[in-house]
Amino acid sequence: MIKRLLCIGAGYVGGPTMAVIAQHCPDVEVVVADINHDRVAAWQSGRPPIFEPGLEEVVRRSLGRNLRFTGDVEHEIGEAEMIFVSVNTPTKTFGQGAGRAADLQYWEKTARSILHHARRPVIVVEKSTLPVRTAEAMERIFKNRRQGQRFEVLSNPEFLAEGTAITDLESPDRVLIGGAETPAGQAAIDELVDIYARWVPRERILTANVWSAELSKLAANAFLAQRVSSINAISAICEQTGADILSVATAIGTDRRIGSQFLRAGVGFGGSCFQKDILNLVYLCEQHGLPEVARYWEAVVTLNQHQKERFVRRMIRVMFNTLAGKRIALFGFAFKANTGDTRESPAIQICQELLAEQAHVCITDPQALEGARQVFSASTDRVAFESDPYKAADGAHAVALLTDWAEYRALDYRRIYAAMERPAFLFDGRNQLDPEELYQIGFNVYAIGRPDRTSL
Ligand code: NAD
Ligand code: UDX
Repeated sequence: MIKRLLCIGAGYVGGPTMAVIAQHCPDVEVVVADINHDRVAAWQSGRPPIFEPGLEEVVRRSLGRNLRFTGDVEHEIGEAEMIFVSVNTPTKTFGQGAGRAADLQYWEKTARSILHHARRPVIVVEKSTLPVRTAEAMERIFKNRRQGQRFEVLSNPEFLAEGTAITDLESPDRVLIGGAETPAGQAAIDELVDIYARWVPRERILTANVWSAELSKLAANAFLAQRVSSINAISAICEQTGADILSVATAIGTDRRIGSQFLRAGVGFGGSCFQKDILNLVYLCEQHGLPEVARYWEAVVTLNQHQKERFVRRMIRVMFNTLAGKRIALFGFAFKANTGDTRESPAIQICQELLAEQAHVCITDPQALEGARQVFSASTDRVAFESDPYKAADGAHAVALLTDWAEYRALDYRRIYAAMERPAFLFDGRNQLDPEELYQIGFNVYAIGRPDRTSL
């Protein structure tokens, strides 16, 4: 049985995943190491550097018992029996494959560091989302091992979603473990299965070969994102025809073969995963001579881009074709509710386009205001940041709701209307509010894929 486990990378995945493992395996020492010392200090103090419901409690339960965060990556590699690699794998911004391929520099540095500092046989677990056949590349790096070193590489992609990370980890739909089809590979798989089996029912722990596990992760995200783009494509038709996307989504979703989840039309998907992983898949297809397959998946991202542009175009059109000098309150900046994460948030592009129209933008968000500041504060003085949504809307010509925070459903829209310029516009980019109620208050209401409600 594994007694000492290390995770390299204390981010949105590494931190929560290891906290949950530590909670369920009190006899296993769990160490999380990261080169970002501020992040390490925050985790180690019991106040995680990321906002995630329920996370702080889970971390505190094991901290000081069998969970620890450290900046000394190299030393910990030498002590570990199993090493999860959960470093970032963003889209490459330079050189060959720029804008599509995964940037594997952090991953490769980690692999080399493991090779140099491991002092006992180690099972290396890919937790990061990686292109298919990355485990093979890792194995090739490990072929340069010193005498006595032994490495077994597994792929164990993570399926948690931000905002629900703890419940996803506590009760996953499945855990997927890929390993080599050799006795040593199977033994390594068994070690990892034993860890998850402490709290995950056995039938939900799936095993596969490494490449299938790697590809399943990209494919799952591509399918999920494709659903969002599909419903958003239908929302565009709704707006042209008077059909209502909520009725259409219900009608589609009640077909058990389709299912009702992930059919919420909105301003487009964001987050650090969907776009990155699809582009990664597209690149993979191109590399393997499958241009038609590449174009098919690429369209999911193209449509997502279009959805954000469409949202702003509609704002401009109904606000008399000019936004110059107008104040617009953005309700929400995080890429979804219950997270402070702003990576690839649709709000970024929407805000940029509004600024290009010379609008004045006031951003509010319960958790992502700091993230918004990092994106925009240096670039222009036409962006303001306000924690109170009522103040953000004060004197505004329009409110655009961009993140599905429950808080925004509970606001007093009469009070908001009273403080706004006339005519007052409300653009519900997440279909969170009752358009009829808002219309009765006096708003001109534009919701995604729903009929306009225009008063004065
Ligand atoms: P993140 O940026 O939040 O965290 C990555 C961490 O790795 C950072 O803190 C960084 O400092 C650290 N790091 C980088 N190089 C390092 C090195 N050489 N040594 C030690 N630490 C190093 O990223 P994340 O959101 O946690 O994602 C990690 C991986 O998991 C990515 O491949 C991502 O695609 C995948 N993933 C993410 C999610 C999600 O919801 N965020 C879900 C499933 C899978
Ligand atoms: C996603 C996957 O769900 C998860 O399994 C994977 O491990 C990481 O990527 P995440 O990006 O954290 O998780 O959140 P998710 O709930 O999938 O939402 C992604 C984006 O799609 C958000 O911007 C969300 O608002 C949007 N979305 C989702 C919609 O617009 N409509 C929907 O119906 C669902």
